[in-house]
Amino acid sequence: MRKFFSYGPVDCAEHFCVPRTEFIHKAMEQLIGNPQKGGHYFTVWAPRQTGKTWLMRRVKEEIEKRYGDRFICGFMSMQGISGKSIEDFLQEVPRLFRISLQIDLKKPLKSLSSFMELFEKGVGVFEKPVILFIDEFDSLPKEVIDELVVRFRDMYLNREAYLLHGLALIGVRAVLGVDSERGSPFNVQRSMHVENFDFAEVNDLYHQYIEESGQKIRQEVIDKVFYVTRGHPGLVCWFGELLTEKYNPGKEVEIDLNVWKDVYRRAVKVEWNNTVLNLIKKAKDKYLNQVLDLFNNSDKEFSLDVEWCSYLYLNGIIDYETITEASGEKKEVCRFANPFIQERLYNALTKSFLGDDTPIYPLALGDDLSDVFEAGLNLERLIPRYKDYLKRLKAKNISPFRDFPKRSDLNIYEAGGHFHLYHWLMNVLGKFCQIVPEFPTGNGRVDLHIRCKEQEGIIEVKSFRDMATLKQGKLQAANYAKKLGINKVVIVVFVHGVEEKEAEILKDDRVIEGVRIITEPVVFY
Ligand SMILES: Nc1ncnc2c1ncn2[C@@H]1O[C@H](COP(=O)(O)OP(=O)(O)OP(=O)(O)O)[C@@H](O)[C@H]1O
Ligand SMILES: [Mg+2]
Repeated sequence: MRKFFSYGPVDCAEHFCVPRTEFIHKAMEQLIGNPQKGGHYFTVWAPRQTGKTWLMRRVKEEIEKRYGDRFICGFMSMQGISGKSIEDFLQEVPRLFRISLQIDLKKPLKSLSSFMELFEKGVGVFEKPVILFIDEFDSLPKEVIDELVVRFRDMYLNREAYLLHGLALIGVRAVLGVDSERGSPFNVQRSMHVENFDFAEVNDLYHQYIEESGQKIRQEVIDKVFYVTRGHPGLVCWFGELLTEKYNPGKEVEIDLNVWKDVYRRAVKVEWNNTVLNLIKKAKDKYLNQVLDLFNNSDKEFSLDVEWCSYLYLNGIIDYETITEASGEKKEVCRFANPFIQERLYNALTKSFLGDDTPIYPLALGDDLSDVFEAGLNLERLIPRYKDYLKRLKAKNISPFRDFPKRSDLNIYEAGGHFHLYHWLMNVLGKFCQIVPEFPTGNGRVDLHIRCKEQEGIIEVKSFRDMATLKQGKLQAANYAKKLGINKVVIVVFVHGVEEKEAEILKDDRVIEGVRIITEPVVFY
């Protein structure tokens, strides 16, 4: 029986796989172009683990199948090419040719001109037109990328002199030319972006499993997989592995939402996934401030011309969404790539800034929280305790945000409050309750779902913008809670730059649509 697979390109005979025939066909057409005159040179790009390598290997197979001996196809990967200079690269060329084209160059190359010569008609080592796939093009040093791209472009413009019929450069970022002063290597219009799976593809993949294994999976589980991953191929298959292998409750048992909840929690907390870890590392890297801001700000405009945007986008941390503003204008705004990545980042950032424990006792001595659990779940009674905690920190001269990056105006990031409250709640309630953050799209807010035994409540965390937005937020919160069958929401509004007394004006307690909405301002300093 086949399996889900998430460690490199899939093999459809062994693994469940999505055929993606349209993409394969389109890429093949581009590479072949006019079989007599020449094909195109273009780039294939997408974040990690989206299926680039698999797709382009399939394109190669398809060309070999359809065009038989007409072309020589070579698939080479630049991963693991060591060294920094052009000379180092040239040294590796004979090995690359031997492995991917079965051609023995006999001697090392001296210059990039001799590299070009290899493809020259009548002079080089080929007798037939060549179609070349270069995977992991980003792994090459910038200098080599720049130089190679220039040579390839020359060959493209003088195609009658060369046998390089078609070329696909495959990668994450460099292939788009964003790091290069010379811009994109080839005609950008021809570059191909690998999209995530759509819902039908994810559904089909999981139904392949259901059919072959005979084990049932509830439709809601497949819907959840699509929702949390937004169809990211590597993550979709990884959840498939976790659900059907590692945490499979038994072949005769249906995989339902309970299994899903268990798997999802483990995926967030304990499961190792290289792509995700690498992504978190990148998010904490040079554009951390922007990442933090995104947790708090839902209308940051997206633009590929802005360096941080393109960096986070091409590394699969953010995506964009088109929204319509109140004025009727449309614009593209930044969003996290998918809810799973957002939750992993939220946890990772909370831990890295605030550690596991609080620097002082999270609760006053003697406080046993009894009134919080008295006759229902009274989450609103936690907020004065949090404010007291902030005061006690201040009295000891401990800044709650000491390890947070500071903005140039030295104001603490607004998102700092979101992380800080979450961290405190985990310390206070973690032993009795489960706290699950959720990030409703387009709201720049965090909903903390708190489940303690049979009881459930929501603390919604946001930053103060203006009264109209706050009013709107209360209505939204009421509607949302109603849908979930919850009759109370505590909204914590972080305010800064004002005195505590001034902030009190935001305090509010009212019933909207049958839901009690309690608003609690918190000033952070
Ligand atoms: N057609 C497909 N059907 C099913 N799963 C796929 C398919 N394509 C990709 N995947 C999933 O994505 C994973 C990564 O595939 P692949 O290695 O081809 O992607 P990549 O974009 O080249 O990744 P990287 O950027 O790490 O090189 C696979 O292990 C599999 O989980
Ligand atoms: Mg790859």
